[in-house]
Amino acid sequence: MDFVRIVTGEKGDQMTDTTPDFGAQPAELLAIAVTVAREAADTARSMRAEGVSGVTTKSTDTDVVTAADRAVERQVVAALGALRPGDTVLGEEYGGTDGDGAVRWVVDPIDGTVNYLYGLPQYAVSLAAEVDGVAVAAVVRNAATGDEWTATLGGGAFRGKKRLSASVQTELGQALVATGFGYDAKRRAHQAEVLTRLITRVRDIRRFGAASLDLCLAAEGGVDAYFEKGLNPWDHAAGGLIAAEAGLLVGGLNGRPAGPDMLVAAPPAIFGPLAELLAEFDAAGGP
Ligand code: IPD
Ligand code: CA
Repeated sequence: MDFVRIVTGEKGDQMTDTTPDFGAQPAELLAIAVTVAREAADTARSMRAEGVSGVTTKSTDTDVVTAADRAVERQVVAALGALRPGDTVLGEEYGGTDGDGAVRWVVDPIDGTVNYLYGLPQYAVSLAAEVDGVAVAAVVRNAATGDEWTATLGGGAFRGKKRLSASVQTELGQALVATGFGYDAKRRAHQAEVLTRLITRVRDIRRFGAASLDLCLAAEGGVDAYFEKGLNPWDHAAGGLIAAEAGLLVGGLNGRPAGPDMLVAAPPAIFGPLAELLAEFDAAGGP
């Protein structure tokens, strides 16, 4: 189906949007994402019930990967290949696939692998559909609890059928802020220095262990804001859209877009003050 959107002009006249055709509406891509993510989450949960296996490490001794991370990503790639042949997939464990489709799927098969390892119920399948590098449909499913968050670009963010509104906190000093840490010890030392300064300027800090779920928690006001240095696309592609569609500003520091050096998701009134403080503390710098 063509992607043709009717938009209303200033005088109420209707014009046809020139958004490129990428072979499906965001809602159709979301339906596919949800189907694939649910099956993937079922695999993650059932493999966890049988015990963690195939544990090896990646970038550092604390950066673990398990048989489930690999199996879930292979399952997602196969399912998307069957449903959307030609699209490409970028995944944490196997990298990118080849294809000439207009849609790129970005998947973290298990976000929160350390939680998965310990049996803490805070790990998720994160799946987003991107067109021209912009996420248009997203699902994050907590594989342990079955909680599920979704969003489409311009269509709002939801937990199940409930439309989400993020925090409208206006005072940084009253904000509960979630964050995360990388796996490299030198990077962590820098992140810890930033936190020692930030913690006196906000209500408190939380660290739950899965970036996609942190963003979904921010989307529903469970925390006021979230930031992290060093995220990869699969950590934030889905959760970033969900947070933005729930009303948060999502970006980087000094007017830059969110990227590997920094992602901040915060209510409009405190995005600026938080980003300025993080820039002052050189949160995007260091190793
Ligand atoms: C990690 C988690 C963690 C965040 C790290 C990520 P993984 O992803 O999202 O919360 O702090 O930066 O790498 O390794 O569990 O997929
Ligand atoms: Ca992961």
